[in-house]
Amino acid sequence: MNRYYTKNVAQRHANNKKQKMINPPSVLIPESEIQQRVRELGAQLSVDYTGEELVLLGVLRGAVVFYADLARAIALPLRFEFLQLASYYDDMEPAQVQLIRGGSDYLQDRHILIVEDIVDTGHTLNFLIEHLLLFNPKTVKVCTLLDKPSRREVSVNVDYFGFEIPNAFVVGYGLDYAQKYRNLPYIGVLEPAD
Ligand code: IMP
Repeated sequence: MNRYYTKNVAQRHANNKKQKMINPPSVLIPESEIQQRVRELGAQLSVDYTGEELVLLGVLRGAVVFYADLARAIALPLRFEFLQLASYYDDMEPAQVQLIRGGSDYLQDRHILIVEDIVDTGHTLNFLIEHLLLFNPKTVKVCTLLDKPSRREVSVNVDYFGFEIPNAFVVGYGLDYAQKYRNLPYIGVLEPAD
């Protein structure tokens, strides 16, 4: 399945002039490992939040695939909420963080679990946690699929993570480069063409 998908992507790249500078992503974390780890996280969260009402707060758009799998691995009644931040645009450098979509009426006195795709410099989460705390939730915790600790510029408390990864630009399983590759079922690394 993975091999077939990669071949398909490679074929599309060959047909697409804009993509000629980038090789197809090589597999960093295979689909089966992601699915296994997501089940473990779901089981852990089900224990840690037993008896509590939990709000799963997804950060659009990168966390959507992880969110959908994680939510189904948690054996508790959940409230679904999403918000959107602008921090990266169509390049590989971080930009200023801004809230561009998402309400706040559900926050007060609730347990909030932020679901993120990746923590890189930490600026996005730092901004988001400070913003959420203004509305007096019971607790705010963080669950990220990927963590790149070597890139951290501000300290953030990551309560749950799927995988620690080295300093590489990754795509797939929700993560994009220039809005592409989000639907890859694995985490891949983008490398410049030879
Ligand atoms: P931070 O504010 O630097 O921690 O960046 C967080 C956001 O940057 C993530 O939610 C992603 O949207 C994006 N990002 C950081 N690293 C990567 C990457 O390797 N691939 C794709 N997006 C990334």
